[in-house]
Amino acid sequence: MTGQDARTTILALFRAAGDGFVSGAQISRALGVSRTAIWKKIEQLRLLGYAIEAVPSKGYRLQGSPDVLLAAEVQANLETERIGCEVIYYAETDSTNLCAHELGKAGAPEGSVVLADSQIAGRGRLGRRWCSPPGVNLYASVLLRPPVAPRYASQLTFLSAAAVARTVAETGNLAATVKWPNDVLVGGRKIAGLLNELDAETEQIHYLVLGIGVNLNMRTEQFPEDLRYPATSMMLECGRKVSRLDFVRCLLRHLDHLYALYLSEGFPPVLAVWQQYFDLVGRSVEVDLQDRRIIGKVAGLDSDGALLLDLTDGTRERVLAGDVKP
Ligand code: BTN
Repeated sequence: MTGQDARTTILALFRAAGDGFVSGAQISRALGVSRTAIWKKIEQLRLLGYAIEAVPSKGYRLQGSPDVLLAAEVQANLETERIGCEVIYYAETDSTNLCAHELGKAGAPEGSVVLADSQIAGRGRLGRRWCSPPGVNLYASVLLRPPVAPRYASQLTFLSAAAVARTVAETGNLAATVKWPNDVLVGGRKIAGLLNELDAETEQIHYLVLGIGVNLNMRTEQFPEDLRYPATSMMLECGRKVSRLDFVRCLLRHLDHLYALYLSEGFPPVLAVWQQYFDLVGRSVEVDLQDRRIIGKVAGLDSDGALLLDLTDGTRERVLAGDVKP
């Protein structure tokens, strides 16, 4: 049993015991280790911030939990169909997306989730960095194996943006919006970014990684100075700290629900959810395309999610990829 599995098992026993004690014998049976070896595992949990009382004749009792995204905590009564079937948590990693790629190549099941407290090489879109300090934010990557051709992969970007916007709106009671196609904003400031990556051949997706970074408890001075787009965090918007655990559990449930909808009914109902958070219709925007910049009024979205822009010369442009500036 790995260290993470052992901690997961102990936390599950604590959860089942509620406010009661779990005896050393119970833990040693569950882990298949001696009662002296348990002490080491308990110490590791204490180092992570768990307050654990030890009483010689009774055993151990959980008195308080930190806001750490251990698999056992994330998965407890999650009741999702697919998303979160496996959860791997790292205190520090290079990038959760890179970890999810390794899982994808190793044949891990669809719905596996990688979480990290901090990333030392957090990746943003277009080769940019994603600022990933410890203790404050959510860095998550979800592995999917959608049975669709690679040309439909961008539909999953709308799906993850819709799930993130819903979670931001619900957990913070905030007016979240989506910036086409994949940033989530509050009050015009970026609160979450998505980096979806694909491993595919011409007609088949091997796996897809939904990379999700959400600024949860980041303070103003923690944001890098060279941000391309004004940023904010849930804490700055709500005026209180947000539980990372509550947020990620809510997010995984929304992802699970929207993915089940996508598999059973296709893209239209997912796009309809995304559109509930899209507030640019009728507004003038600038769009940076790869080779030029266009200005126009947003007419809406095409059925495949392409942005429809009415240009000043009276023509309508279908934009498939680009950076939108309201
Ligand atoms: C963007 O540039 O807006 C996308 C940022 C995506 C960041 C997330 S954090 C979790 C996952 N792991 C990464 O290295 N990047 C994504």
